[in-house]
Amino acid sequence: MKVGIDKLHFASSQLYVDMSELALARQAEPDKYLIGIGQSQMAVVPPSQDAVTLAANAAAPMLTEADIAAIDLLIVATESGVDNSKAAAIYVAKLLGLNRRVRTIELKEACYAATAGVKLAQSHVQVHPDKKALVIGTDIARYGLHTPGEPTQGGGAMAMLISAEPQVLALTDDSVVLSQDVMDFWRPIYQTTALVDGKYSSNIYIDYFQDVFKGYLAQTSTTIANFKALVFHLPYTKMGLKALRSVLPLATPTQQQALLAHFDCARSLNRKVGNLYTGSLYLSLLSLLLTDAKLQPGDLIGLFSYGSGAEGEFYTGHLQPGYQRGLDLGLPQRLANRRRVSVPEYEALFEAQLKLDPADQAIAFQDDPHRFVLTGQINEQRQYLDQWA
Ligand code: COA
Repeated sequence: MKVGIDKLHFASSQLYVDMSELALARQAEPDKYLIGIGQSQMAVVPPSQDAVTLAANAAAPMLTEADIAAIDLLIVATESGVDNSKAAAIYVAKLLGLNRRVRTIELKEACYAATAGVKLAQSHVQVHPDKKALVIGTDIARYGLHTPGEPTQGGGAMAMLISAEPQVLALTDDSVVLSQDVMDFWRPIYQTTALVDGKYSSNIYIDYFQDVFKGYLAQTSTTIANFKALVFHLPYTKMGLKALRSVLPLATPTQQQALLAHFDCARSLNRKVGNLYTGSLYLSLLSLLLTDAKLQPGDLIGLFSYGSGAEGEFYTGHLQPGYQRGLDLGLPQRLANRRRVSVPEYEALFEAQLKLDPADQAIAFQDDPHRFVLTGQINEQRQYLDQWA
């Protein structure tokens, strides 16, 4: 029996900032951001969206009534959680109208956690093939204005339905994990922005990729030639390119060109959204599947997941016949329809998040076209609204 990703759907913001404009505002050369970091646009998440609403907005459009009836596990992976105790998944389950017999949990391990969710969901469905699991990676990447990490911000959520006989990607049971205590990126409980040693973190990422990818080749007796494409966690798209380049010497010149061409497709949508922490690898997968005309059913796709702190995993899946049926086909058009905001407008939105304060607060949500929005806080409780209800 095959088990894997049956559907993928993405949600982000209707707003973005242009990276050339941001570079000029920060006295940097535009090519540093466009080429050196590899980002052309960056999603600007308004205060009316948080990890909960992004997650619900990502999942709702892809779920049928039959899916909702079959889902008995909801995993929300995030490092942008809204509560230190209550799982974001409980709010998301309510907004989505899931039934009461659903196991709902929040997972955390930086950008890696959605992969833990996918692999746990895979095991769950292998035991209960009549059930489905919903896994959502949802985050808002915040390093702070005028920081080196600023051009690697962004935000959004990727929802994935894991089922038996999946439409998109049948996962293999093979994977290699690496987990060690590393202080490359973290966010103390009192911080709303991440602390990061950017250069160190980028080096650790490459070390982890080398370790788990080569470990996978040795464990499964495969070679790089077996892979149609490799997709990466993309905190910024140059990061994945550096990792890919680090293993290209294992491939022939023709294979190298092919892997680089597939990578270009796999980063094309991430270039326009920026970092979304947990969902980033899966936006890259969706980007590959939506924009690469050279893929075929049966192709082996390798996925590298990395979360600072640090944990990495390399795992694989086979592309399924008719995989397009499970994809978020409208995503490129939705990204094209976003509104460009100026740098001052982006800065004002960055500062306008719900305050970490017990006072009642209201958030202007009327311009937010998304179905689920955060409208404020009353009696120290977040207020969520379904604008379609
Ligand atoms: N044209 C083209 N490329 C240019 C350029 C120009 N005019 N100016 C600079 N660059 C290149 C640099 O050569 C460098 O490329 P390289 O990494 O291949 O050497 C790249 O742009 C970035 O320049 P750098 O001076 O290293 O930038 P920085 O000190 O501002 O830091 C990051 C960049 C990515 C380290 C920083 O944005 C960061 O800390 N981000 C968060 C880190 C992160 O996401 N870590 C998580 C890993 S999961």
